[in-house]
Amino acid sequence: MDIAVMGYGTVGSGVVEVFTKNHDSIVSKSSQADLQLKYILDLRDFPNDPNSDKFIKDFNIILNDKDVRIVVETMGGLHPAYEYVSALLESGRSVVTSNKELIASKGYDLLKIAEDNNVNFLFEASVGGGVPIIRPITQCLAANEIREIAGILNGTTNFILTMMIEEHMSFEDALKLAQDNGYAEKDPTADIEGHDACRKICILASLCFGKHIYPDEVYTEGITKITLEDVAYAANYNSVIKLLGIAKKMPGGKIAAIVCPCIIKKRSQLANVNDVFNAILVKGDATGDVVFYGKGAGKLPTASAVVADVIDCAKHINRKKIFGWGPSAENYVEDHGLISCAMYIRATSKDKKTALEEAGNIFGKLTVLERSGAPEDEFAFITGVDSENAFREKLSSVKNFTPCSVIRVTDL
Ligand code: HSE
Repeated sequence: MDIAVMGYGTVGSGVVEVFTKNHDSIVSKSSQADLQLKYILDLRDFPNDPNSDKFIKDFNIILNDKDVRIVVETMGGLHPAYEYVSALLESGRSVVTSNKELIASKGYDLLKIAEDNNVNFLFEASVGGGVPIIRPITQCLAANEIREIAGILNGTTNFILTMMIEEHMSFEDALKLAQDNGYAEKDPTADIEGHDACRKICILASLCFGKHIYPDEVYTEGITKITLEDVAYAANYNSVIKLLGIAKKMPGGKIAAIVCPCIIKKRSQLANVNDVFNAILVKGDATGDVVFYGKGAGKLPTASAVVADVIDCAKHINRKKIFGWGPSAENYVEDHGLISCAMYIRATSKDKKTALEEAGNIFGKLTVLERSGAPEDEFAFITGVDSENAFREKLSSVKNFTPCSVIRVTDL
């Protein structure tokens, strides 16, 4: 049986490396007599690559070669990935992808095409890199009603925040270091503005709760406004700031989903997840909390998940796995303004005493925070729990201070 890889970037080349290095054991685990890499599709030239004889530039060569039964898509982006993957599934090939943008935007459509054509479409690597999470949700945790799923889903931003927390590095310097280490996406906007984490929480929420949730339905805020001052105040509250993706089922059946920086207590299992590591907390009604932890980005960890899916496709080449979710539904995702949480506010005022009195009158009982070296006019506090809409309305009525930072406080 032959396979093809489309896209020879970081992940695609990692897939070829893992597939080649562990070839014998991969074949024996695949239940196939043989599993060979036949083509690598990429528009660039790789003349010195050990697989240089396998490179092609024309997608139709893969589409028209009936010996190719499993195709790996590691090109990234929506187009032409969507057109290629649809055509392959329609032609009866199983497809494995690491492309979270593709799954978050087109997952339901592609799962439906796979279903209609009795082939497999697997994407373990699309969330958490090398961390097993898609298969555990669909198989090991299948007996549970999942109440909530929350995680550190982006390695780059977690690395940046770790550098800010532990090394007191500025956001800009930490981003530069993340890019030098090869963690950030080509355009770091997708990482630092939370879009990458948003795609991942959409995939997880769709899987956990059964209907497709699209990125534009999820309120998303990145980490670009987080400062070392906020990090210091959080530390004095025994907390850290982490970029979280959170999705939970509300009592009426709607889904609340959000991506934003959150202040979490150091005792939380997510608080000690540092550097480029990811962690995903799943709250099942039977299991209670389960946490999945590991390298969420990088060539070989991500390739590990892709190649495992290839093995799974090979094992189930004539047996479609029951896997996926249904179409989206109107008004299925709750307005994030209706979600309740406590809020951290850092502010400045010429008259701190009056400002704190006003804040107490507006927000109720406050937890006032300290940090050494704070300027005279700066202060910070945490409010009680309220809906975000109510909080924003109260904040807009403030007269005696100017808010500089507002960060949600979670109790995960
Ligand atoms: N840029 C992504 C991250 C890569 O930092 O997590 C893995 O999706």
